[in-house]
Amino acid sequence: MNANLYDEPREGSATLLHNVVYCSRISAGTTQADVQAIVATARRYNSAHGITGLLVFGSDIFFQWLEGPKADVVKLMHNIRQDGRHNTVVELAVNEEVRERVFPTWDMELVQPDDIREVLQDAIRDAKAAVSAKALRELLQKVEEADLT
Ligand SMILES: Cc1cc2nc3c(=O)[nH]c(=O)nc-3n(C[C@H](O)[C@H](O)[C@H](O)COP(=O)(O)O)c2cc1C
Repeated sequence: MNANLYDEPREGSATLLHNVVYCSRISAGTTQADVQAIVATARRYNSAHGITGLLVFGSDIFFQWLEGPKADVVKLMHNIRQDGRHNTVVELAVNEEVRERVFPTWDMELVQPDDIREVLQDAIRDAKAAVSAKALRELLQKVEEADLT
């Protein structure tokens, strides 16, 4: 029997995961309603493609954590890069490893700036794979530097 490396998201299962973490700057004219629309699209698309993660928006900056099957995450990143609602997409971490998801139950969670430190610190504490902890620490450092409000 062939084990499917790209199982549906579920807690406690290690699969080959592609992980991209990036930041970007919101484009002039993009509103809070646009951000809500992005999250609504993301939840539908991501759950259909086995992608999980989080999005935080504050001080005109987005940070996003994406994890899922490589082909799906690469295709999504291609779309995201071309999305005019933001610009200056800078990748902070890209890795691929057999590991458990860091955010197995979040199709795309919009985390508020006030909560992001605690979310990331909890995830770092719980991360089982060194590569996840490293990417989370890098994201936490950038989030702290950006001082999101
Ligand atoms: C900051 C940001 C994050 C986004 N995150 C996602 C996401 O996680 N999933 C998703 O499907 N679309 C996301 N999008 C929207 C995509 O860029 C794109 O609009 C969407 O995939 C629909 O693509 P289509 O118009 O080619 O069908 C994001 C857009 C922005 C600006």
